[in-house]
Amino acid sequence: MPALPEPTSPPRLLITAGPTYEPIDAVRFIGNRSSGRLGLSLAQSARQREWRVTLLLGPNVSLPDDSSITVRRFHSTTDLDRELHQLWPEHDILIMAAAVADYRPTTVHEGKLRRDAEVLTLELEPTPDLLRGLATLTRSNQLTVGFALESEATLLDTAREKLRRKRLDAIVANPLETMDGETIRAWLLTSDDQSFDPGGAMSKPAFADWLLDKIADLHAARLT
Ligand code: CTP
Repeated sequence: MPALPEPTSPPRLLITAGPTYEPIDAVRFIGNRSSGRLGLSLAQSARQREWRVTLLLGPNVSLPDDSSITVRRFHSTTDLDRELHQLWPEHDILIMAAAVADYRPTTVHEGKLRRDAEVLTLELEPTPDLLRGLATLTRSNQLTVGFALESEATLLDTAREKLRRKRLDAIVANPLETMDGETIRAWLLTSDDQSFDPGGAMSKPAFADWLLDKIADLHAARLT
């Protein structure tokens, strides 16, 4: 009797979702409008496929309903960077859906800033590119997927440039116009120049399912 194929163990997915909050003082921050909804849908859909899922979840995003998802919270880009460095080596697939700040205050004021008659100027420094920083840690059997939120006019060209600059395996290109919305219109581009089109705007849970099918195929191809 021919030997049965070895069962492949479910992938271990590390997924980030939500905004970062960059502190100004003890009570204030610079944030963004990311709802984290797509990341949550992706985490939930991956669990339904019995993948092992670790969700790094930003501030102001509710916990997923499924308690079998391991959740760790982050606030700032610095927190998220630390978590990624610690957790990425134990995972197979990274989906970086978090809306990471591009700039943060150079100094965090101790206590609470007081209002006075003077103009207040905040000095901002660029944050490190977290995905680019992880590239040196990434093994050849791991798969990295980023997001590019861009205006429609330059969407696909800019997404391709980011895919290369960040050394990703794939990138989801979605127009700025869908941020914070109920539906999403997006494409998946890969480092070997494939592009996948789900065919139109769809709900975030439906897009999450479509995207995980594609990611599962890319990961399986990586292992063969
Ligand atoms: N990202 C990251 N580190 C940052 C900023 C973004 O890892 N400091 C990730 C995001 O999570 C996303 C991808 O990189 O998956 C693209 O994010 P985006 O903000 O579109 O790109 P930027 O790196 O900010 O590039 P640009 O400023 O040219 O838009």
